[in-house]
Amino acid sequence: MNRTLVASALAAVLLPVAAQADPDLKHGSKLFHMFCSDCHKIANENGGSDPDLNGVVGRPAGSIPGFQYSAAMRASAAAGLVWTPENLDAWLLKPANFMPGTDMSFLYGFPHESDRQDLIAYIETFSPDYKPEAPAPTQPGTQP
Ligand code: HEC
Repeated sequence: MNRTLVASALAAVLLPVAAQADPDLKHGSKLFHMFCSDCHKIANENGGSDPDLNGVVGRPAGSIPGFQYSAAMRASAAAGLVWTPENLDAWLLKPANFMPGTDMSFLYGFPHESDRQDLIAYIETFSPDYKPEAPAPTQPGTQP
């Protein structure tokens, strides 16, 4: 407890901007294989039959052809939700709060930011086309 407090105080002093300097990919992989791979595929592994998470970072939500998404996911997709790291972070904090009515029955979420950061960094390694510095896709006046 004390150590955590000291560590976060130090991090706040040393890293005022970066959310987390050094995500732990090994830990992210461990979390993925504990909590996600029963349902989702990544890399060339055999995973579940829920949406393939290769390339998910930067991908529009609900966009795997032929997958039967929930009405909630379809509505979010229609509203333009894209799986940026920020949106994945909010989703993985508690999926059912981020998107009430989702079919993803992963109820607990990850309350610790560092867990979410490690997991997202791991998932991002399978999204080689994602460019973090790309400008936001919404442009004024281009809504349908
Ligand atoms: C019990 C099965 C299950 C587990 C466990 C699970 N998911 Fe899902 N996931 C789903 C389903 C089903 C959907 C589609 C949800 C919908 O349509 O509302 C989904 C959707 C998603 C999406 C959106 C995909 C898209 O194409 O828009 C992401 C991202 C995601 N899951 C990440 C994760 C991560 C990361 C984990 C591990 C922490 C995880 N999921 C655990 C079943 C699961």
